[in-house]
Amino acid sequence: VKVAAVVPAAGSGVRMGTDTKKQYLDLNGIPVLGHVLKSLEASPVINGVVLTVNPGEEEYCRKAVVDALGLSKVTAIVPGGKERQDSVYNGLLALSGDYGIVVVNDGVRPVIDHAVLRAVVQAAAAHGAATSAVPAKDTVKMAGEDGFVARTLPRESLWLTQTPQAFRYEIIMEAHRRARLEKFFATDDAGLVEFTGQPVKLVPGSYKNIKITTPEDLVMVSIFLQEGTG
Ligand code: C5P
Repeated sequence: VKVAAVVPAAGSGVRMGTDTKKQYLDLNGIPVLGHVLKSLEASPVINGVVLTVNPGEEEYCRKAVVDALGLSKVTAIVPGGKERQDSVYNGLLALSGDYGIVVVNDGVRPVIDHAVLRAVVQAAAAHGAATSAVPAKDTVKMAGEDGFVARTLPRESLWLTQTPQAFRYEIIMEAHRRARLEKFFATDDAGLVEFTGQPVKLVPGSYKNIKITTPEDLVMVSIFLQEGTG
C-alpha cells in the first residue's frame, strides 16, 4: 500500500515568544520544518507528503523550505485552519493518489525516528490506527479551578502521545468527518479515531521526539539532531 504523510505546520507559535513562527525558526542551519520534511523525504516508508501552512504562507514555504532543500515528495502545500484539527483535515482533503495509509507528523517535531515511523505504519496496517507515545516520567495531576490538586492520575497507565500517528485512509477520513459533524475537538488525530469507537494501538516512541513548543525545546532538539539520532 502507498503511504502519505500529512504535516500540519499552520500553528501561530505564541508559546515560543519569537517573531518567527517556530516551524520556520533556524535549527542547525535549516528551518525546523525542513528537518521534518527531509526526514520524510529520506524515509522509504513515505510515498508523498502534503503540507498545511498558515493561509498566505504557501509561496514562502515552497521557496524557503521545499525548493531550498530540493524536496520531491511534497505534492501539495495548502492553507491550514483555525485549530490543528482543521489543518490536518485540509491536508487530508488535498491528498491525491490511492493512499492506503496516512501518517500525521507535526511540523514542529524534527527528530523523527525511522524505526518508530515504520512501526507506527505497520501497526496502522494491522490495527487501523496507531500512535507513537512514551510512558509518562512525571506524576501527572489534574488541577481544580482553585489552583489546588483535584486528583493524581495513576502513572503506570499514562502515556504521552506523540506524532507520528498512522491510520488506514478510510478510518482517519471518517474520524475527521464525524468529529466535524458532531463538533468534537481533540488535540491529536488518534483522539478523533477514539471518538468513533475504533481502537488505537500504542507504539513505543522516543523521548528525543520533542515537540518544539517553548524556547528550551530548541536546545535539546539541536543536540539530538547533531548526534544524528532520530
Ligand atoms: O498547537 P501545537 O503546538 O500542538 O501544534 C502542533 C502542530 O500543529 C504544529 O506543527 C503546528 O504548526 C500545527 N498546527 C496547525 N494548525 C493550527 C495549529 C497548529 O497546523 N491551527
